[in-house]
Amino acid sequence: MAQHKPSGSTRGEIQVRNVTKTYGTGPFAKTVVQDCSFTIERNKLTVMIGPSGCGKSTLIRLLAGFEKPDSGSIQIDGRPITGPGKDRLVVFQESALFPWMTTMDNILYGPRARGEQNGQTQSQADFLLEKVGLKAFSRKYPTQLSGGMQRRAELARAMINNPDVMILDEPFRGLDAMSKELMWEYYSGLYEESHRTNFFVTTDIDEAIFLADRLIVMTNIPTQVRATLEVDIPRPRRLANAFDSERANEIKMQALSLLHEEAMKSFSGGSRAAADFIEAYAKRTGKAPAEAKQPE
Ligand SMILES: Nc1ncnc2c1ncn2[C@@H]1O[C@H](COP(=O)(O)OP(=O)(O)OP(=O)(O)O)[C@@H](O)[C@H]1O
Ligand SMILES: [Mg+2]
Repeated sequence: MAQHKPSGSTRGEIQVRNVTKTYGTGPFAKTVVQDCSFTIERNKLTVMIGPSGCGKSTLIRLLAGFEKPDSGSIQIDGRPITGPGKDRLVVFQESALFPWMTTMDNILYGPRARGEQNGQTQSQADFLLEKVGLKAFSRKYPTQLSGGMQRRAELARAMINNPDVMILDEPFRGLDAMSKELMWEYYSGLYEESHRTNFFVTTDIDEAIFLADRLIVMTNIPTQVRATLEVDIPRPRRLANAFDSERANEIKMQALSLLHEEAMKSFSGGSRAAADFIEAYAKRTGKAPAEAKQPE
């Protein structure tokens, strides 16, 4: 938010260098992330897209500091990440709202827990509620809100804490198509005002293109970066215009073709990922990629 933190903050750059993460040992060892390097650039919205099950949430847990890499390093603004910190805030797909608190109390939870509630946090909460279109719902409880409203309340609840980096793991997964698209507009509107560092993980190509400044396309498991694409589509983006340009279509096709190759690799390995991908692709375009075959 312009009134939370001026644009062009000098904090919030994350560098991931040669990170490897393996679960289990001996014959049960499974390497999920292998020699993976990328940068989450300051004041940009970086979206990561990759086949289902490739290791995206694992990377998020490493960035959040909930788990440690086996080798390689992760640094925020030059300092190693050794555990969770209030410089990073993670929003997961699952609802984290407290059912016994009103929308307003949920949003004010962070500042209250830190003993920082004052007139300013109250006005920030009002501002955020307005921004996410929930002003009229501030006294309602989570069960009285729709799924999309709950996700908007969660965005506001995260943003009031003003982290250097917002990390979001498929926060809109499971919403119906219309609610999801509305969320893209609310979320990108919030981002366009603050330009804080955001890292957003998804498996939805349209979501990725609509939101991203930079798009990191991941390989299949064990995951690493397959390609990084600059999504140079002008902002502010709105649903009515974002997908019109030739450039948007070009980026989408490029990303889809990379994802398709990765999904096919897992397909030959017997994974569901390719089948899921083909299903999603077919839904978006009305036809499956020509070379895609359904599993035997
Ligand atoms: N704690 C763990 N122990 C063992 N294996 C794990 C653990 N966490 C994740 N994995 C394995 O790592 C792989 C990647 O999981 P992860 O959740 O990171 O993928 P993802 O890309 O986020 O998938 P999705 O798109 O479905 O959310 C999976 O095969 C999973 O079984
Ligand atoms: Mg995941």
